[in-house]
Amino acid sequence: MENIKKLAFGTDHAATEIRETVKKYLHDMGYEVEDFGFCGQGSCDYPDFAVQVAESVANKKADKGILICGTGIGMSIAANKVKGIIAAVCWDEDTARLASQHNCANILCLGSRTATLSEICHRIKTFLNTPFEERHKKRIDKIKEIEKQQYRCQ
Ligand code: RB5
Repeated sequence: MENIKKLAFGTDHAATEIRETVKKYLHDMGYEVEDFGFCGQGSCDYPDFAVQVAESVANKKADKGILICGTGIGMSIAANKVKGIIAAVCWDEDTARLASQHNCANILCLGSRTATLSEICHRIKTFLNTPFEERHKKRIDKIKEIEKQQYRCQ
């Protein structure tokens, strides 16, 4: 079983109201959380936070990442641009479980406008408590192979 201790955490302005509660939830479960923002007022751009969380996970400073924006979609698109990242938007607990179990996702992306606080917390807990199943490794290796081939693109 994977030993997840350190989490990289980031949100945009869409999650301002829930971010501290989610962080407390993570601390209460025993995780060490590095918060990459957004902690300011007004609006911001989700790629700025997605890239910091993604780099922290890709560089193995954090074991997993949690990103929250309005839908989770923008965060996942941006985070997946970083080499080594498999970021998944999850719509319910089942997809949160499968993102880890089948897809070896290292970042969970959630939407503050598409889920309640309680749903967000449940998805995070399920994601972090579900180990990757090695029988899916061949497919993940193929994804890594695609990543290596990116130089083919213009
Ligand atoms: C910000 O309004 C919103 O676009 C962002 O939080 C996110 O939902 C993007 O995917």
